[in-house]
Amino acid sequence: MRKETLGSKDILGSNEVSENNKDLENHPAPKKCDILKAADANQSVLKFMSHRRSALVRSMSEPGPNAEQLELILRLAARTPDHRKLYPWRFIIFEGKARAKFGEHLAKYFQQDCPNMPAERIEHERTRFLRAPLVVGVVSSPKDCPRGTPIWEQELSAGAVCMNMLHAARAAGFAAQWLSEWYAFDRRIDDVMDIGENERMAGFIYIGTATENPTERPRPNVPNLTQYWTN
Ligand SMILES: Cc1cc2nc3c(=O)[nH]c(=O)nc-3n(C[C@H](O)[C@H](O)[C@H](O)COP(=O)(O)O)c2cc1C
Repeated sequence: MRKETLGSKDILGSNEVSENNKDLENHPAPKKCDILKAADANQSVLKFMSHRRSALVRSMSEPGPNAEQLELILRLAARTPDHRKLYPWRFIIFEGKARAKFGEHLAKYFQQDCPNMPAERIEHERTRFLRAPLVVGVVSSPKDCPRGTPIWEQELSAGAVCMNMLHAARAAGFAAQWLSEWYAFDRRIDDVMDIGENERMAGFIYIGTATENPTERPRPNVPNLTQYWTN
């Protein structure tokens, strides 16, 4: 069932319905050796980042990104620093019927582990991926680097891809949330997704249309987390 999309004035003071933002202009990828700006003051990006919040998956609805929008979101997510250009990550897309099919595996293994759970709880597992129109699994896929790039660095790069994807999805007019839940850490589910022995899930990015605006959550006192090294 399609829920209503957002239409109310949000904290950024915009009356634009997020749907409007989905009329994406062409964002061509720069070509190799194109000169790009080292710094580019951009008040809208600063504002965007100061107010960015994840949306809760329970407040997501159809539609999700179309093929062109998804291509852009993935391409922007992949514009992430990675030491020695190893591209130590990859994406698995869950959309349409694949989401329900994947849910069958979640329900099966959940029931195997917790046989006494009520039927509704099993159903919750079965329908997990149906909570959003699109789920992108981000796989951390570290490479065996002859020059010794640490696995840790490669895993950090996968995390950065997830963060970039949240930004790209939101900037494209969609709500997004980064979840791991139990199935990101289950070898049987890894097998269902063909995750290699050396790989692990960095997370699942749920993407859809927001049905409500999130409220601000507590943020850290950054000065308390910051020190100047002096000696
Ligand atoms: C790696 C990672 C895994 C997460 N997994 C979960 C999860 O399984 N369940 C959950 O409720 N939130 C999870 N979260 C948190 C949500 O993404 C949460 O909505 C988010 O941290 C809210 O912060 P934001 O508004 O600044 O984006 C996870 C966050 C990260 C970074």
